Amino acid sequence: MISNRTFTMIKPDAVEKGYTGAILNKINASGFRIVSMKMTQLSRRDAELFYAIHKDRPFFGDLVAFMSRGPIVAAVLEKDNAVNDFRTLIGSTNPEEAAVGTIRKLYASSVGENAVHGSDSDENAVIESQFHFSGREMF
Ligand code: RTP
Ligand code: MG
Repeated sequence: MISNRTFTMIKPDAVEKGYTGAILNKINASGFRIVSMKMTQLSRRDAELFYAIHKDRPFFGDLVAFMSRGPIVAAVLEKDNAVNDFRTLIGSTNPEEAAVGTIRKLYASSVGENAVHGSDSDENAVIESQFHFSGREMF
């Protein structure tokens, strides 16, 4: 996959609260093209694998329970400088520290339940996109 793509999930808290449409609008308005998208639900095992890098962190159990408790929207996004620009659009992990106008400032409730995921590198964007989508599902 090329380096102008990133991977996102609208997390269970934001889907539960009905923010899916507003978040997708903001993503589109910020110049990202949707390459792949689906509503799905992570099993506990899926969440453990997806966030395996955090397995030794104290919040790992809460993170796995949270990410598997309800539906998410997974998507691959395309834009120049996609990984960095999307991290800027979503804002800091902790919504209290997120810049005004960012998705987390607008829609997240806490550092744990923070509305959206964004890949942190081109390499992880590829790994995470392939976790959720086959090549035939990328447009
Ligand atoms: P993400 O991977 O979901 O885009 O979030 P991030 O890069 O901003 O933050 P990261 O350090 O990768 O943490 C992954 C997710 O774990 C939860 N978390 N909870 N309770 C806590 O202190 C804590 N810290 C992190 C959040 O859901 C965070 O997005
Ligand atoms: Mg992260």
